[in-house]
Amino acid sequence: MSPSLSEKFQYQEKRKAVDLSHHLSDLSRARATSPLKGLARYFGRPDLISLAGGMPNEAYFPFAAISGDALVPDSFSIADSQSESSLSWLWKLFGSRKEKTTSVTIPKYPANKDDITLKVALQYGTATGLPQLQKFINELVEKIYQPAYLDWTILVQTGNTDGWSRAVTTLCNPGEAFITEDWTYPSALAGTAPYGIHPVGVLMDDQGMRSDELRKLLAEWDEGARGCKRPHVMYTVPVGQNPTGVTMGLERKREIYDICVEYDVIIVEDDPYYFLQMGSYAAKLDPVSQAMHADPESWLSSLAPSYLKYVIDYQGRVIRLDTFSKTIAPGARLGFFTCNPRFAERLERAGEVSTQAPCGFGQSLVAQLLTTWKYDGYVRWLQGLAVQYKSRRDFLLDALREEFDMQMSIGTTSSWKGCTVYTASSKPRAGSTRMLEKRAYGSKALFSLVPPTSGMFVWLKMHFENVPGFQPDEEPSTMELKLFVKLAEAGVLIGPGRYFSSDEDNASPVDGHFRIAFSYASEEDFTKAVKIFGEVMREFFKE
Ligand SMILES: Cc1ncc(COP(=O)(O)O)c(C=O)c1O
Repeated sequence: MSPSLSEKFQYQEKRKAVDLSHHLSDLSRARATSPLKGLARYFGRPDLISLAGGMPNEAYFPFAAISGDALVPDSFSIADSQSESSLSWLWKLFGSRKEKTTSVTIPKYPANKDDITLKVALQYGTATGLPQLQKFINELVEKIYQPAYLDWTILVQTGNTDGWSRAVTTLCNPGEAFITEDWTYPSALAGTAPYGIHPVGVLMDDQGMRSDELRKLLAEWDEGARGCKRPHVMYTVPVGQNPTGVTMGLERKREIYDICVEYDVIIVEDDPYYFLQMGSYAAKLDPVSQAMHADPESWLSSLAPSYLKYVIDYQGRVIRLDTFSKTIAPGARLGFFTCNPRFAERLERAGEVSTQAPCGFGQSLVAQLLTTWKYDGYVRWLQGLAVQYKSRRDFLLDALREEFDMQMSIGTTSSWKGCTVYTASSKPRAGSTRMLEKRAYGSKALFSLVPPTSGMFVWLKMHFENVPGFQPDEEPSTMELKLFVKLAEAGVLIGPGRYFSSDEDNASPVDGHFRIAFSYASEEDFTKAVKIFGEVMREFFKE
């Protein structure tokens, strides 16, 4: 097999990003530097007397200092969660000993030259954010994602929702289409619809977007029939894909990247779940050793790489979106772009006339926390989180296995080909009049799932064709909606699949789906929810 384009480049010296400015939208090209922000470049001069900006004097900031108690980086165990009882997670940790914290303080004025201060953090500033935060992010990107070209640039944003919104309007004009996974993050779709920028879904499998389907879509694109030119932007969630929970490995990323080079497509990599990669599920009932990598460096190198990685994005055609929402807190409203300098400059222009910069409270607290923890401490924190989410996933799947009869099989459909699929039917209950009948004829399938390998979600495919009285010509999503309402009324809220469809018109009643988040509820609530889910499902399928 001939080497792929990215393979050819992997041993070459790193170069600067290629010029991809022809992708910029009309809106983005029309942006000038905000007149007042243009003055900011002089602000660093120590002898400068600034009478130009509308800055309040910091003496009028009511906060003299901000202090907080932060958990220590090794608060969460990285021991193999399967080797302990499932109670090892979260609550047990704090139950037996008081949580260990370190104090972080941000003073108004500096004691040392490089201190993070409220004087700066709470003042108007540039859209590029606090210098100490930029420094930390640069170190993180360099060490973890290892970009493939020289002049990659980071820029803070207020979370990946803002990141995508800025990226898509920087790249797409109204009336254009963008490529995405068949199922995707609903806010990414809701954010583009009012601009008349619409998604085109690509079929997925257990690694996310399929490269053969992507090539087909681009090669066969018919501008007349589709009503718009061939897409030049892709929005993708390659790790802990929302909603399906799948993880894309290096080889698939390279295939997709090479197709994007061939058809000149910019990849926007929305990757909030990168550090929540948890490997395959080994059911409690048939345990396989699932030890997490003990030392942080081997843990990091076991993770599926970003598209930025040195063997993939050698041209600078990826805009990567990182967020602190899932690793520190969503309320921090803080994240960052990593991309080529031309795109970063245009994204900065878009930022300085909208949010101006992420909130100074959030930036200073996160920056102080990270510089206190340092790179190694943050990596240790992330590894602890990965183990926590793995425990949560395993707990939920174990609970489903206890509630339902779960048959394991190897998937044969295109989306689940070769995967371990769990298909649930109701458990024969002692005393049930249908028990003998079930033993004789077997139970009908209620739903199927492939255990997620990262992120926060389990994706269920419903077998509505097995509901007595099922009408194949029923309105799309009707069954899904009916079941959703029954579950909500019984006290359990889960995400209806149609919310995540990149093409709502294609939803069929048989293809009902639901997304269950394992990120939030307590053990007790999970147990209760799964019981209720079981009862409602049995009633719905008249089992
Ligand atoms: C794929 C994806 N992108 C973005 C977000 C939101 O991120 P943020 O809080 O950084 O805006 C989420 C949150 O659920 C998500 O799943």
